[in-house]
Amino acid sequence: MAELEVADLIEAVTRRVLAQLGQVDPGRSHGDVSAQATGPYDPTRPLVAANWKMNACAEGIVPYLADLAAADTAVDLLLFPPAVLLRAVADEVIRVGRPDFGVGSQDLHPQPNGAHTGEHSGALIRAAGGTWTLVGHSERRQAGETDAQVCRKIHAGLDAGLGVMVCVGESIEARRTGATFRVLRNQLLAALGDTALQPPAPQRLAVAYEPLWAIGTGEVATLDQIQEATAFVRRVVAEIYDFARARDIRVVYGGSVKPGNAREIMSEPDVNGLLVGGASLKGPSFRAIADASALVVATRRQP
Ligand code: 13P
Repeated sequence: MAELEVADLIEAVTRRVLAQLGQVDPGRSHGDVSAQATGPYDPTRPLVAANWKMNACAEGIVPYLADLAAADTAVDLLLFPPAVLLRAVADEVIRVGRPDFGVGSQDLHPQPNGAHTGEHSGALIRAAGGTWTLVGHSERRQAGETDAQVCRKIHAGLDAGLGVMVCVGESIEARRTGATFRVLRNQLLAALGDTALQPPAPQRLAVAYEPLWAIGTGEVATLDQIQEATAFVRRVVAEIYDFARARDIRVVYGGSVKPGNAREIMSEPDVNGLLVGGASLKGPSFRAIADASALVVATRRQP
């Protein structure tokens, strides 16, 4: 049975069980990640993602999405709320008429089910309306997540039919000692090497380059550092898969992105999008970042 059929079957069974428990509407589906884009997959569309971390968005989900609904449609928007808010965000995305927005979890458990208190599987994320998952964020790695766990989580996300955004990034010590590329290469090989024999479709995988020292610090990497690192990530992705996938898989930057710097970061040739923490917590701020990203693409396309 094909990978997606298995995922669909798991979702259908999970939805039926949850519906019997009165927790979801069995007739309602938000589709999978392949339904997110408004047309065929276009890797030149920026992927701009909000990671709310352990925060509710500042103004509440309804006003936040009312703001975001007017965002430029030339950008693929992706929201990673806390898992307990997934269903509410997924429902509101539909209600404001932007089913093209992706919604995802900030983590997932590698097992499809079982006695793992407090955890959530890919199937449960889908049942809550999720289409994506974030994996290997540095804040989770700092809490003890290993490369091997990141790899298993990527498999679990793909197996469940989710899109996966995997995070890599170097510490300040690695940057200072010239170990940045070694760290990035090791993280990518450990995370994705195992999927080389069965590469995921490019629209179902994104890599976020997030230097640890730029996260939540207000200290943005320089444009040269961002370009050099994202180009390097793409080279390693080509090494793992092939050049076509390296061209088509989106590599995004994260770390102190704000409305005021989004446009210049997005202008770097190997940056296909952004992963935004603090500045994604308010609808107008995140929308300004999305619109700045759309503007870069529109400018690039002009003859
Ligand atoms: P900030 O945008 O708050 O620096 O966070 C970046 C991040 O970790 C997104 O995942």
